[in-house]
Amino acid sequence: MAKNPQSPNYDPADDPKVVTASEGMKKGKVPNELPPETQTITFHQRFERNATLLLIASLGVVSIGGIIEIAPLFWLENTIEKVEGMRPYSPLELAGREIYVREGCYVCHSQMIRPMRDETERYGHYSLAAESMYDHPFQWGSKRTGPDLARVGGRYSDEWHVDHLMDPQSVVPESVMPKYAFLMEAKLDSEDVTDLLATHRMVGVPYTDEMIASASGDFRMQVDPMGDYDALLDRYPGAQVRDFDGQPGVSEMDALIAYLQMLGTLVDFSTFVPDATR
Ligand code: HEC
Repeated sequence: MAKNPQSPNYDPADDPKVVTASEGMKKGKVPNELPPETQTITFHQRFERNATLLLIASLGVVSIGGIIEIAPLFWLENTIEKVEGMRPYSPLELAGREIYVREGCYVCHSQMIRPMRDETERYGHYSLAAESMYDHPFQWGSKRTGPDLARVGGRYSDEWHVDHLMDPQSVVPESVMPKYAFLMEAKLDSEDVTDLLATHRMVGVPYTDEMIASASGDFRMQVDPMGDYDALLDRYPGAQVRDFDGQPGVSEMDALIAYLQMLGTLVDFSTFVPDATR
């Protein structure tokens, strides 16, 4: 009998290498091109031939791996190393951060200095996890059309920032950064900032009742160097108090520059020692 499947006389019923459907029914075997004797992997075949079973089993296998990798992070104390100096954003800084997110500055700017020599020589100490612990959402970014901004605070004067945001090409002629002159005109409402703080508390930022109650006052106080801002500094140590845009009132420009000027300034890296033993 011809065993060549190409031959016109070929009859699969006579070929011991083939289990036909009817034969399979009889023997309780699945029709298969392999001879029944070689079916030592039938257990696995059951998964391969049943999409639902395969899906459930793969989910099971993947989640075991996932749980082993991820779950410890929820309990380990050192997931975020506590770092001296980190505090939640002041109301004005937080409002500035909202503008940063709204305008999509993260599309061109990262806020994450990687621990590599070229990065640390250009931008300063590599970013610590704790430095973005109050960021919701974090602003690490994934693209650098412009430079990293994680430590831009204090690098330039407020006037430079005003000029640069009004018209970037006036200070850096080859810049491709868009103009944000409208921020100067847009006044900010000190009432909204209370809700902003409350929202951030809902997602885990430890704002106290006192901080939320005094949010709109603190917000206006931070642009008023003549005011009595001691309480503001008690609540937000290291907050910079001055008229950032040089105009009366609180503009979006004030808030954004207050935010930029505090970036990377909270942790004192002259005294910071990374604790590798934890
Ligand atoms: C289209 C991409 C783009 C966008 C969007 C953008 N920038 Fe830039 N930014 C740049 C480029 C390129 C530079 C470098 C040239 C320069 O200084 O203008 C820069 C530089 C800067 C600098 C100076 C950084 C340094 O260390 O010299 C700051 C601060 C800055 N941008 C803030 C912002 C803010 C705030 C926003 C959002 C309101 C923003 N940028 C949006 C491209 C962008």
